[in-house]
Amino acid sequence: MTVPIPGDESSDNPLLDVGNLRVYYPVKVPLIQRFFQSEKPFVHAVDGVSFTLKAGEIFGLVGESGCGKTTIGRAVLRLAEATSGTIKFEGVDITRLPESKVRPLRQRMQIIFQDPHASLNPAMSIGQAIGHPLKIHGLAWLEADVRKEVLGVMREVGLTPEEQLYDKFPRHLSGGQKQRAAIARAIILKPQLIVADEPVSMLDMSIRAR
Ligand SMILES: Nc1ncnc2c1ncn2[C@@H]1O[C@H](COP(=O)(O)OP(=O)(O)OP(=O)(O)O)[C@@H](O)[C@H]1O
Ligand SMILES: [Mg+2]
Repeated sequence: MTVPIPGDESSDNPLLDVGNLRVYYPVKVPLIQRFFQSEKPFVHAVDGVSFTLKAGEIFGLVGESGCGKTTIGRAVLRLAEATSGTIKFEGVDITRLPESKVRPLRQRMQIIFQDPHASLNPAMSIGQAIGHPLKIHGLAWLEADVRKEVLGVMREVGLTPEEQLYDKFPRHLSGGQKQRAAIARAIILKPQLIVADEPVSMLDMSIRAR
């Protein structure tokens, strides 16, 4: 689905351009077996994937479990290392960019992980977790400003009553609520690109339809 942005010529350029992406993971094999094998074994998690994405476009990846969907998402955000191929974000080749140069871009690309339990810090309240990206990227410092923004996105994702949930910890929330919190944390920065790894697997059907 494409949502064109009127009068914006730059929307003709892809937001994301993935070319022939490969991500191989080395397989751990016993020393004795390694001795007899001439080649090192690798899991071909992603093997030659290409696609482009324009601004405002929604792109879905479908495939059986273990086919490499999560790995593609992680590689695009430089959370997994590409073995070969290119990842261009807003026209810039980020495939081998040093981490210090990738960091400022992270504000513009966010990921919502498959497992919300693992992606929320158990020691941070939900409000703190959702507002954390604002602080990391230096977009808001005053507690009152952060709180106001956080309560706004909490309402937006249906994490209500927001005032009550703000100070709760992940262990006090249901799976679906945690997933909403992860979504809220990703959208609070208004990123250009959101990689959503099965972000609604914990939400009930009526909500998924939205
Ligand atoms: N860090 C890693 N080290 C080694 N192998 C990995 C690693 N991450 C993923 N793999 C392997 O890469 C392949 C692709 O995994 P991936 O998680 O991308 O699949 P997926 O399509 O997201 O699956 P699912 O639908 O179950 O989430 C799998 O065979 C997996 O075992
Ligand atoms: Mg996956």
